[in-house]
Amino acid sequence: MRFTLLVSIPLLLAAQDETRNPLTSPADAAAGAKTFRSHCSECHGLKGEGGRGPSLATGVFYHGSTDADLLRNISDGIPGTEMPGLFYSPDRVWQVVTYLRSLNARESVAGDRQNGAKLFRSKNCAQCHRIQGQGGRLGPDLSQIGRNRAVAHIRAAIVDPDADVRQRYWFVSATDKQGRTNNGFLMNEDTYTIQFMDMGERLHSLNKADLREFRVEKTSKMPSYKGALTESELNDLTAYLTSLRPTGGAR
Ligand code: HEC
Ligand code: HEC
Repeated sequence: MRFTLLVSIPLLLAAQDETRNPLTSPADAAAGAKTFRSHCSECHGLKGEGGRGPSLATGVFYHGSTDADLLRNISDGIPGTEMPGLFYSPDRVWQVVTYLRSLNARESVAGDRQNGAKLFRSKNCAQCHRIQGQGGRLGPDLSQIGRNRAVAHIRAAIVDPDADVRQRYWFVSATDKQGRTNNGFLMNEDTYTIQFMDMGERLHSLNKADLREFRVEKTSKMPSYKGALTESELNDLTAYLTSLRPTGGAR
């Protein structure tokens, strides 16, 4: 028994690596899109653009990009992370893989990454954003933005920041009955209390009953760069940000 087990494991792995998706027609992609909307979009965005889970539209998958890798990661989930398994027949999972591949086909950025990196500094992006530990803290860390967000989302974030502001970046101003005002990014809000993080990274937790007034702005603290960048500068910045991914991973 033990002998067969030792021999069969490497054989199985080798066989798996050559597995090819058998269901790649447009009808399969459409069926996969449906499954995706009902089971995946909550975390990965309606078109795989990313959100609570990473973007699946970039064409590069940290946990592996072969058909076999995708079948495994979607069927079994990714242990130790929020990514759940989808307990459906392999056929339905293959259709989802076909849908994901159709997203990847649309992703391409024509731009000069090196020039994008220069623009990132000269256009003051680094004042608010950190990359590899360098830069400001008002905006999100962009060290892995190329994995987390699709190209279209990155472009839109630069020219139209107000379009899609995550709740984490809603801005609270709270004035107490003595007239003192504090502000910062919303952490949490319920019927009676509100919590936010100020610019010095101090957490404020206040009873609404103790406040004279409070406001929650859902617009971005990031200025729009529409008109401030040429089309080719926008392409270069997008190409640079898209290239920022974690190193390591399956392949
Ligand atoms: C509850 C949220 C959630 C749901 C629902 C979810 N995912 Fe995920 N998914 C994640 C997270 C978070 C990760 C990143 C795991 C990590 O590496 O930390 C992930 C990772 C992945 C990966 C690997 C990405 C990579 O870069 O290798 C794939 C592929 C994937 N998900 C596909 C799907 C599909 C298809 C569905 C629907 C059948 C789905 N996910 C449903 C949260 C979710
Ligand atoms: C004054 C501070 C500030 C400056 C300057 C700034 N940003 Fe932002 N940025 C933010 C904040 C805050 C957010 C989060 C709210 C939002 O989504 O707009 C953000 C969001 C983003 C996102 C979306 C991140 C995600 O995960 O969705 C991208 C991409 C981005 N910024 C790129 C840039 C680039 C490129 C520049 C320079 C051309 C720049 N930012 C300049 C503050 C700033």
